[in-house]
Amino acid sequence: MTYYYYLGNIPHKRHTQFRQLDGSLYHEESIGLRGFSGVQSLLYHLHPPTQIQKIWIEGNVEIPYEDQSPLHHRHLRTATMTAKGDAVESRIPLMANSDICISVACPTRPMQYWYRFACGDEVIFIHDGSGILETQFGNLFYRPGDYLVIPTGVLWRILPDAAVEQRMLVVEAYGHIESPARYLNRYGQFLEHSPYCERDIRPPNQLIVHDEEGEFEVRVKAGNQITSYLYHHHPLDVVGWDGHLWPFAFNIEDFEPITGRVHQPPPVHQTFEAPGFVLCSFVPRLFDYHPLAIPAPYNHSNVDSDEVIYYAEGKFMSRKGIERASITVHPRGIPHGPHPGMYEGSIGKERTDELAVMIDTFRPLKLTQHALKFEDKDYSYSWVSH
Ligand SMILES: [Fe+2]
Repeated sequence: MTYYYYLGNIPHKRHTQFRQLDGSLYHEESIGLRGFSGVQSLLYHLHPPTQIQKIWIEGNVEIPYEDQSPLHHRHLRTATMTAKGDAVESRIPLMANSDICISVACPTRPMQYWYRFACGDEVIFIHDGSGILETQFGNLFYRPGDYLVIPTGVLWRILPDAAVEQRMLVVEAYGHIESPARYLNRYGQFLEHSPYCERDIRPPNQLIVHDEEGEFEVRVKAGNQITSYLYHHHPLDVVGWDGHLWPFAFNIEDFEPITGRVHQPPPVHQTFEAPGFVLCSFVPRLFDYHPLAIPAPYNHSNVDSDEVIYYAEGKFMSRKGIERASITVHPRGIPHGPHPGMYEGSIGKERTDELAVMIDTFRPLKLTQHALKFEDKDYSYSWVSH
């Protein structure tokens, strides 16, 4: 993120003596991106964050890609996914390339360990559920519609509220997720035309210092492997931190739609950008107000991108046969557009209640074998008029 924030106790001057009540030093840790050239934060621990007691390989997480298939439009119905496991174990990777991996997850229980994604940032879209994103930077209370943005380097775990159904869309970026540069001024502040601003971003708001000894497991995903590390001190022993790097929540309801007299293209819905993809939010909004406007989108060939849409709520204006938690993938190379009747049918409509997350990737995506279990095999032919 782009602005300065702090929680807890920090010394007046960085890299100076900051002492605990018993006279011992707190242990400063810098977490920064792009070497020492990107955003960073300084954290102050009760104990050194380096005291590993034991290391082992927890598991292999290689992505099981599908065998070659013809280039075609895809529709995955993920509503039927079985709920099980914690917020990391329950992830089902559906598609990926060298920039991104997109998964869905329906966790049922809290994580018993802490987790760090070493390859990039993560966005977790909370479709259903509530709970706590517990991090070294403090706790964030999440609710439906939240995007939880977790920069690489942040140690976290998810503690879902008991007896509340959870459904998440998970985006792992092999790079850094940022607000679009065109939304920001040269000082990093959101501009007036941005569909969201600093007030809409929720930093961690509860820093609990754990001074506990025992056995604490931290899992780190790097490449296709998860490695476990055992520590004798609780990893959430941070008494204070400051800087520009911190996890945050942004709720999709706080995205202010930009509308026009005629149909507005997807970039007006853009929410985040990362190397190799953009993420957009389609939210309830008034439709176009030119007297002859056609609100539904025109047919389009996304020549340079694969287009993924996760349908969260409402009726999507251009699609038929789509249900809650459906995912469509419209690849480069072949045009797609509104389903029969939807183009003409949208004329005169004043508003839409659709809520969806779109991810456009600039390299081709490959689907996984898991995705095939959810696939509506007739989707490619659903544009044919009968
Ligand atoms: Fe499209």
